[in-house]
Amino acid sequence: MKKTVQITLLVVVAFLLISGTIDLNNLFNYANQSIPSYITKDNTPSTNPVTDEGATLGRVLFYDKKLSSNNTISCASCHKQEFAFSDSAQFSQGVNDQTLRHSMRLINTRFADETKFFWDERATSLENQTTEPIKDHREMGYSGANGDPNFQGLINELSATTYYPTLFNSAFGDVTITEEKISKALAQFVRSIQSFDSKYDVGRAQVANHSTNFPNYTVDENAGKTLFTDNFSYVIQTATIPQFGDDITTTVAQRISGGLNCASCHRPPEFDIDPQSLNNGFDRPLNGNPISQREFTNTRSSTLRDLTNPNGLINSPMFHAGTTNDLGGGIMANYNFKKIHSDNNNLDPRLAPEGYPLYLNITNQEKNQLIAFLKTLSGNDVYTNPKWSDPFDQNGNITIIGGTLSTFDNELNDKKIKIYPNPVSTKFTVSGNLNLNEIQIINSLGQICKSIKPDNINYTVDISTFQTGIYYVKIEDKISTKVEIHKLIKK
Ligand code: HEC
Ligand code: HEC
Repeated sequence: MKKTVQITLLVVVAFLLISGTIDLNNLFNYANQSIPSYITKDNTPSTNPVTDEGATLGRVLFYDKKLSSNNTISCASCHKQEFAFSDSAQFSQGVNDQTLRHSMRLINTRFADETKFFWDERATSLENQTTEPIKDHREMGYSGANGDPNFQGLINELSATTYYPTLFNSAFGDVTITEEKISKALAQFVRSIQSFDSKYDVGRAQVANHSTNFPNYTVDENAGKTLFTDNFSYVIQTATIPQFGDDITTTVAQRISGGLNCASCHRPPEFDIDPQSLNNGFDRPLNGNPISQREFTNTRSSTLRDLTNPNGLINSPMFHAGTTNDLGGGIMANYNFKKIHSDNNNLDPRLAPEGYPLYLNITNQEKNQLIAFLKTLSGNDVYTNPKWSDPFDQNGNITIIGGTLSTFDNELNDKKIKIYPNPVSTKFTVSGNLNLNEIQIINSLGQICKSIKPDNINYTVDISTFQTGIYYVKIEDKISTKVEIHKLIKK
């Protein structure tokens, strides 16, 4: 009994130590995660590769409610790890209003040819996407219009924290915070979210290509894979389509054999959307708009991986309007018979052969096989791995350990530099085994408050006139010109 209590206490203490702490000398691996050899698509731009430091900063930003104007909403409020970084709600609540479309899953965003983002592809890159929600009046409220604060307001707030200057310095080499750096760090974190431990991946690794039957699949799962992948033959003919008591008799392109051709738009093994895809005929209007204002602009979907969670339950309602949680029902309603709306001049021709409405005539057995297959595309690790989890402690704080401003961290390790006293109220001394070339005192906004060329071994700096707060002391060695940065607290 006593032992159990002790162990429980130990676990609790260990948890408290770990939660809310970022050890800059011991970061999670984001930059060199293992990627299966058959995964070849990658939209990472050469100007923003994923680094451990950048993605760590991105993770803190992603979970930080300070990114919203009233400090109540973070990216993770609408993109929840437990739901594959989507939201179980049809529309998500932002600071000022609900979203207009359903939140998208952020899984394997990197592993895709399409470089435009959002359902309607209005963001031309992930880097351009990531600050949009912050500047959106409904979502996070830093729009600079309608009484909202502007983006500089956010930068000021982040600069005033104890941890962001250190994290930005670690990621980008200096403490100054800019919109570009925020967008890049968030994009790195989003690109780091990967899911490749599904049943599909276990099977795919054992065979030469996607189309071969997978040895680890059931008969139905393999049949579902073939249905998803193969194209179909069709005839143009008059058919009566069962429509819940209101059957339609019309001329259609009716599938007579073969698969359902889903893979031509949702392309394995990444299951990313074909960049050429037009809309799929799902034309629900924006949240709150009348049914007459149909949407024909949505030509993107997230990867079809992780539609369901490891228990086979749907992660979040499907399609841009988040209309259904029923995987089979949603697919049947959207793809079995493709009505062509007279205003829709952006429908993908794959769903209207020769201009006729496509009737796939999916049987109940085929539907169940397709569902069985789609469920094999879900991973496990991405739902629980702490590297993508909330880094803040219960009080909304982050403690940085493992060094000073990290990029310069170890350069002068052997010189045994000391700064004392720290915290300081009037004067502090820098001592060490080096020839001091320059000492700079930098505030948390990255501004240099004092710069001294001491030309000496030890030096005492007077900062009695400085305001209280956190400063950084940058020390440069005369001979090697290497630098080291120490945090200094002014009382
Ligand atoms: C209030 C809810 C909400 C918040 C907060 C929010 N998002 Fe989103 N996110 C959405 C919705 C809704 C969409 C789809 C919008 C659309 O297509 O019009 C979306 C789409 C995206 C996409 C596009 C995915 C794709 O595959 O095209 C990315 C990336 C993304 N969000 C990242 C973020 C980041 C990073 C933040 C924080 C800075 C954030 N989101 C904050 C609701 C939210
Ligand atoms: C012509 C290209 C195309 C084909 C073919 C196609 N899709 Fe789609 N699919 C899309 C587009 C575009 C969307 C996003 C539509 C929207 O929500 O407005 C989408 C969305 C989806 C979604 C919802 C994804 C989400 O994150 O909510 C599912 C599920 C889906 N498709 C399954 C299928 C299946 C199964 C097939 C084969 C029967 C198929 N698709 C065939 C283009 C296509």
